[in-house]
This record gives sequence, C-alpha cells and structure tokens, in this order.
Amino acid sequence: MKILGISGSARKKEKSGVYKLVRTVLENTGCETELVSLRGKKISGCIACLGCVKDNICKVEDDLTPLRDAIVEADAFVFGAPNYYSTLSAISHAFLERWFQFRHREGNTLWGKLGVAVGVGGTSGQFPADDIERFFAYNFVETIAKVTGQGAASCYSCGHGETCNVGLPMMLHGPEVHITDDMIPDVTKQPTVMQSAADAGRLLGERLRNDHDRENVTLMMQQKMMEMLGESV
Ligand SMILES: Cc1cc2nc3c(=O)[nH]c(=O)nc-3n(C[C@H](O)[C@H](O)[C@H](O)COP(=O)(O)O)c2cc1C
Repeated sequence: MKILGISGSARKKEKSGVYKLVRTVLENTGCETELVSLRGKKISGCIACLGCVKDNICKVEDDLTPLRDAIVEADAFVFGAPNYYSTLSAISHAFLERWFQFRHREGNTLWGKLGVAVGVGGTSGQFPADDIERFFAYNFVETIAKVTGQGAASCYSCGHGETCNVGLPMMLHGPEVHITDDMIPDVTKQPTVMQSAADAGRLLGERLRNDHDRENVTLMMQQKMMEMLGESV
C-alpha cells in the first residue's frame, strides 16, 4: 500500500502548516509514503486541449509530468492546500485541474482510491479542504477525513502587522496588538488539529489494510456525485 502526500504550500516546509499536517497524516498511516511539495514547481492549469482523451495522459509538459506515475501508482492521497482568498492556492488548483487527464472514457486510474483533504488558512482551512474533497469526488476518490488548521498569515511577518488596520493581527487581537512569537499561529501549537491529523492518518492506514474495495468505493462515489450534481442543476 502506497500513499502519496502532496503539499500545495508555497512556503518552506519548516514554515508551512500545510506541509506539517500532511506529514503528520502520512506518519500515522503505517504505510509506505511519499511526500511531494509543490513549492517552487511550475504547474499549469488544464488548457482544455483534449489531448488526454485518447489515452488519459496529459500532453502539457511541465513539473506535473514527472509526478504522473506516482499519482497513478498511489493507493491513496493526502492532499493539502493553503487557503488563498477562500479557496485553494493557484498551484494546488492547477495540480488538481490536471487530474482531468484521468477522467476520460471510463479511465479508472483513480477510481475508488482513498483521500485525506488538508486545509490551512490564516483564519481557517475549511474552504480548501472542502474544495479538495470536491476535486477528489470528480475522480471517484473517497475523502475519508478532512483536517483543517490555522497557519500564520503573512501579516505576522510583513513588518507592518502592529500598525496595519486591515492586517490579521489587528483584526484578531485588537488595535494595541504587539506581535510576539507565542501569538503567531502554528498548527503544531494546536493540539486538537495535530490530533485530528494523526487520527486521519491512522484511519487511512486501517481503511487501506482492512476493507479497501475499490469497486465498492467507486460505486458509492458515483452515487454521491450523481446526488451532488443533481442538487446543483
Ligand atoms: C495570496 C494569499 C491569500 C490568502 N487568503 C486567505 C484567505 O482568504 N483566508 C485565510 O484564512 N487565509 C488566507 N491567507 C493566509 C494563508 O492561508 C496562511 O498564511 C496559511 O498559513 C498558508 O498555509 P502554509 O503556511 O502552509 O503556506 C492568504 C495568504 C496569501 C499569501
């Protein structure tokens, strides 16, 4: 059983809440894992060329191209993204858009696999986690857990956090805010968040080892998608 972790954060791993949570989930699975960071990578969104229709292989050549085999070979995914403007960061969105290549003509490359969605935001990671769940659903990947945490908004380190009227430090701590290290949000200081990441990892490992029937998961996800699309028309 192999699990592919993907961190969509633009930050170095020591500074990234997304990276830390994805890593924590992976560490608790008891499975073989690989963690890929999208930081510094150049990944375009889907260009709708339809070049992937015949063989389910994307023809755009960029930093996603060498990652395709790892996506295909993985039994499960732990995908994490930062909250940018109440949705996924652009590179995370682009990465998942390109999973369009797997969806044609009953290409079942990803069908029935399992996923954990991780989101981190300056306030909340709920939006990206929900978005990842929806992307997973389009490929009939079941989201077995969502993990969300609060990370450090750039306003804590931009140099103007104590005086900027529209920055998060003032919004969260009031006009007299004095920024100290202990007030800067970090997922590792949030025990319930770290616990939920560890729990998600354990659950993912158990699901993969015990009762993972891709066909059943696929049928369940197809049903779920029909309901989801039915509600939106
Ligand atoms: C361009 C940009 C837009 C952002 N928009 C939001 C937002 O709408 N809501 C929010 O909660 N945080 C927002 N943030 C803050 C990030 O989500 C936060 O810094 C988070 O910790 C990033 O995750 P990372 O540390 O793993 O990179 C934004 C940050 C950037 C750089």
